[in-house]
Amino acid sequence: MKILSFETSCDETAVAVTEDGRRVLSDAVASQVPVHALYGGVVPEIASRAHTEAIVALTEQALSDAHCTRADIDAVAVTYAPGLIGALLVGVSFAKSMALALGVPLIPVHHIRGHIAANYLAFPELEPPFLSLAVSGGNTLLVDVRDYTDMQILGSTRDDAAGECFDKAARVLGLPYPGGKPVEELAKQSPGGVYKLPSARVDGAPLDMSFSGLKTAVVNIAHHAEQTGETLDRAALARDFIAAVSETLVPRTMEAAKLAGRRVLCAAGGVAANTFIRRDLQEACNRAGIRLYLPPLKLCGDNGAMIGAQAYYEYQAGHVADMRLNAYATREITSDWLPETP
Ligand code: KG4
Repeated sequence: MKILSFETSCDETAVAVTEDGRRVLSDAVASQVPVHALYGGVVPEIASRAHTEAIVALTEQALSDAHCTRADIDAVAVTYAPGLIGALLVGVSFAKSMALALGVPLIPVHHIRGHIAANYLAFPELEPPFLSLAVSGGNTLLVDVRDYTDMQILGSTRDDAAGECFDKAARVLGLPYPGGKPVEELAKQSPGGVYKLPSARVDGAPLDMSFSGLKTAVVNIAHHAEQTGETLDRAALARDFIAAVSETLVPRTMEAAKLAGRRVLCAAGGVAANTFIRRDLQEACNRAGIRLYLPPLKLCGDNGAMIGAQAYYEYQAGHVADMRLNAYATREITSDWLPETP
């Protein structure tokens, strides 16, 4: 089954063709990063406009890269939630028109389910059940993936997402947006151990996380140095910051795997590209005898192929939308798409 899939939830317009949820035939991405970098973060209206401009040419590119014509496409899939509402609406409206024009099913996909499904593209042998640590710019979740479309949240952030925290830290360190990769590169220049940063616990919810205190601590250290004229060891701060993020993520992930009785763990999302976090996860999994899947860097960030991968399994489960499909800025990973009641 060949699926043409669309992802426009944030600042990448992405269109892909995948086969049977496991093979990438094409994966075209138009990044808006240079435009948003001017503002230090994503400007929602600019994102929607850029998606509108890019989506038609990108669709042609995805079809041509896959050596497909429109007649070869068996279904259309699209990210319908969560994300920037204007940005999502561009993809949803375009995908609806495409499904209507081709006379094929329309499959709505939750963005984070897509991030998790990126692992199916890289690891043919991987099948649920497994535990997933899904860490991106807008979400930080511990998900028990019981089956391809049956998920349970075991833990989540109570405030900022880990990626958001990386982007804020980058900003105070004078690094460009998006901040994850630049913070990591800076951190590689120091062994750390200079700044004491908090790794917060949520009372009564041991698997939940909080990153706002860490974010504030980094901002305060940078501002304090600026005001007092003290030299800020930027590389050490970056390294200690990543260590604090990792100390929040990794032990909870291991605890969640233990609680759910899972022997397989999959990382997902942009922050899963981080070398230090990947290393810490690998070491913890080695100690616990857990099989760890780390998606290749290209599949950690937003892409269209991951939406096509999850869409295949949503289709098998009968999760097909009609022309009432809408976009939602927030929606739980656990909820299947349902039409709005009139
Ligand atoms: O998954 P993603 O591409 O988009 C969302 O679905 O949100 O994640 C983007 C986030 C950004 O906050 C970015 O700073 C972060 O992932 N990121 C990283 C790295 N590369 C991207 N964070 C830490 N280390 C990285 N190497």
